[in-house]
Amino acid sequence: MCGIVGYIGTHEASPILVAGLRRLEYRGYDSAGVAVLDGDRMVVRKRAGRVRVLEEALDREPATGSCGISHTRWATHGPASDRNAHPHVGGRGEPAVAVVHNGVIENHDSLRRELEAEGFPFRSQTDTEVIAHLIARELGDGNELFTAVQRALPRLAGTYGLAVVSPRCPGEMIGSRLGSPLVVGLGDGEYFLASDAMAIAPHTAQVAYLQDGESVRLTTRDFEIRHQEHGSITPRIDRIDWKPDAVELGGHAHYMLKEIYEQPDTVIDACRGRIRRDEATARFGGLNLATRQLRRVRRVVLAACGTSWHAALVGEYLIERLAHLPVEVEYASEFRYRNAPLDDRTLVFVLSQSGETADTLGALREAKRRGHPTLAIVNTVGSTIAREADGGIYLHAGSEVGVASTKAFSAQVTVLTLLALHLGRLRNLSFGEGMAVVEAIDSIPGAIGRVLATEPAIKAAAERLAPARSALYLGRDIHFPVALEGALKLKEISYIHAEGYPTAEMKHGPIALIDRETPSVFVAPRGSLHAKTLSNIEEVRARHGSIIAVGTEGDDELARLSDVFLPIPDVPEVIQPLVAVVPLQLLAYHVALLRGCDIDKPRNLAKSVTVE
Ligand code: AGP
Repeated sequence: MCGIVGYIGTHEASPILVAGLRRLEYRGYDSAGVAVLDGDRMVVRKRAGRVRVLEEALDREPATGSCGISHTRWATHGPASDRNAHPHVGGRGEPAVAVVHNGVIENHDSLRRELEAEGFPFRSQTDTEVIAHLIARELGDGNELFTAVQRALPRLAGTYGLAVVSPRCPGEMIGSRLGSPLVVGLGDGEYFLASDAMAIAPHTAQVAYLQDGESVRLTTRDFEIRHQEHGSITPRIDRIDWKPDAVELGGHAHYMLKEIYEQPDTVIDACRGRIRRDEATARFGGLNLATRQLRRVRRVVLAACGTSWHAALVGEYLIERLAHLPVEVEYASEFRYRNAPLDDRTLVFVLSQSGETADTLGALREAKRRGHPTLAIVNTVGSTIAREADGGIYLHAGSEVGVASTKAFSAQVTVLTLLALHLGRLRNLSFGEGMAVVEAIDSIPGAIGRVLATEPAIKAAAERLAPARSALYLGRDIHFPVALEGALKLKEISYIHAEGYPTAEMKHGPIALIDRETPSVFVAPRGSLHAKTLSNIEEVRARHGSIIAVGTEGDDELARLSDVFLPIPDVPEVIQPLVAVVPLQLLAYHVALLRGCDIDKPRNLAKSVTVE
């Protein structure tokens, strides 16, 4: 999952490309590069490291010209290095073409052997370089660039979003998509290509999202889209709604911290226009399913990855509790290849913040291929999952830039609480019970605000966790997924090995890890199983394990048993996950800060995983 930006117009391309790459660094940040055409002269600059390293190289040796492509990388084949950075050039002699690519070419090995046998020199360890040489070969056969690209693509097995320029065909740029997102930006006498509209939003609000199998030819005058099989395509032009401050730090040290502090508003935005107090229920405008169809549902499948999977797990507890409907939470990467029995009374939801996660998109397509109406709970408007789903619910959480997801998790759990309420009120949930959920939801922003005010205490608690090599996160019932999420946050940004478990499961093995060096983080607000959790804490104390506990303010017993007690307001169990996760987000944040880790761009990760 790399980031691509392309520009063709009348302005200098380099500054536009570099600024766009900066906005796409959440997609990968181990190396970056540009290829810029000045007439039929092509300059390629690429460097291992962040976009700023490339920018410094361009300051020293500018690449002038008003047509160019660029890339920020998340390595799939070949380590981060100058020679593995994109663009990759193709041709036996002088570079005939330059290519930037987001995706994976699965048959690159055999293509490489074929091309090497024909004398094409390989300079990198990447899968991408075969694309450059394939296109160069087609160019060599006298094809113009658009045709050369379209003749090369069928040789590729795998996924791609790519941009191509050639010094032999100055004044044009080609983009192609199969599996990885690519959007065309329409300007006045200038055009853009990008993996995400956010990269080009400062320049235009008019975009055309390429579909799978489509390629686009861009010149300064116009653009043309062709489908690999269906020929010429009339593009659908969408407007993107972009707020510059949405991607600014707003005075916070990191995007992750900014997004943690946005959560009270995130919950309000996720509920806006969806709560029906007069019916003690929630309504969604985009499900595209009649109430009669929703009533017929006998089973719900939620498929997702990473943090979205944890939110889905909270959703399982909520939908089973409020609507008495059986729910299965699936890893999207497993669900898409496992022949899970689905009958016509099963409702399939996929959850994704980015709306571009390859495995979740695969799960959506698999369910649709099997004839199931498949809905999506998504944050990114206009994303592939949002466009391909039969209906769905937008999170309205705004851009989430920090790689470690925080506010999107809260928005997903809020939407799942509303969905559970909606499905429950269509079945077994009384008006009074529904109203209790509505009132609980109303209290969430205030409760989160009160937890945020305890940040100094959480910062102090981080001192205890920062030296650890590993940690256990434990929670019962609806807090088990919160424990998983807390562990993931710590892993993602502080690189401490952490595992989440249902608290009672600890006795069946993980308790062997308990010693003075391995802290246990208990998610233990008051609730129906609290006494049992306190006994489990005693078991850890008996083995000299240190205890960090998130619990209900005033819970003196829990505070007495814990080395560190992180209080949260006393709120109804149904909304406790949304409040209890906040101390865990801040704990991970401060531990990572103490360990000098890069909070917003943790190693080896990327915000949107567009490869399998
Ligand atoms: C979470 O902090 C991670 N960034 C990652 O696990 C993420 O949740 C996962 O890749 C799914 O992303 P999505 O919600 O955009 O599909």
